Order: sequence, then C-alpha cells, then structure tokens
Amino acid sequence: MNTKPEKKGQSECTERLGRAALDARRFAYAPYSRYTVGAALLTAEGDILQGGNIENASYGATNCAERTVIFKAVSEGRRNFTAIAIAGGMEGAEPVDYAYPCGICRQVMQEFAGGELIVIVAKSVTDYREYRLGDLLPYGFGGESIQ
Ligand code: THU
Repeated sequence: MNTKPEKKGQSECTERLGRAALDARRFAYAPYSRYTVGAALLTAEGDILQGGNIENASYGATNCAERTVIFKAVSEGRRNFTAIAIAGGMEGAEPVDYAYPCGICRQVMQEFAGGELIVIVAKSVTDYREYRLGDLLPYGFGGESIQ
C-alpha cells in the first residue's frame, strides 16, 4: 500500500490504518493457532506497510505481525514511524476482540519509535481504540537506559 494519509483528517488516517491492519490478516501464516493477525505501520513519510504473523512448527520461532512489519520496514532502511494498527481473530472470521500487542512487540516498538508511537487496536474499520506506546509500556527500556 502506498498512501499519503497526512493529507487527510486524523480520524480518516486512523480508519485507513485500521483497515490496512484488518486487510493484512490475509498475509498471516498461522496453520497452528489459526489466529491470524495483521499489522499496518505508518511511516513518517506517510507510507503504510503491512505484515502478518508467521508461525513455525517449532512454536517458539513464530514471529508476531507487529514485528514482521517493523522488521520489514527497518530492513528496507525505514526507521521513523508514527503509528501502528493491529487486528487479530480466528482465521476466516471477523475479530471478536481488540488484539493488543504482546510484550516483546511492545519492546520492539519502543526500540524504533518510543513512547509517542500511536498504537491502534482495531476490531473493525469503525470500532477501534487508540493509545500511546508510553501508556502500554510505561518506564520502557531503551538505548538511553544503557549507560
Ligand atoms: N500474535 C501476534 O501476531 N501479535 C501479538 O502481539 C500477539 C500474538 C500471534 C502469534 C501467534 O501466531 C498467534 O498470534 C497466537 O499467539
């Protein structure tokens, strides 16, 4: 997806990002849990990148959707992010609840975006909640902590 949401109003941006996260569930590879997660990352340039969870028969090798999309971005030289939207539910069904990011994904968000990152959890295009990462991960550990 290549959109320029900065030209739109705030709620329209949020809706677009939520829609991209819901859409990204189709990229999930989740044959073990059948729980498909989509994540959509808004870059500082206004681009939206998408990713899904990628499971493994050795369960611990599974990668969450949020880390998939962040690593995809960082590995292409993008490190400035404004917001991330997440949507998850059982394969083939609409989400029944908000999919909050796991602790490891919150830590990865902290590394590349910090506390001001907007985190949107979307149940549908119109039903979503919005947070600051700093509220989901208070007293976050970052590079500045290592001294
Ligand atoms: N999962 C995510 O993709 N993101 C999260 O933040 C939590 C969990 C995935 C991992 C696994 O493939 C499935 O959801 C069930 O845990």
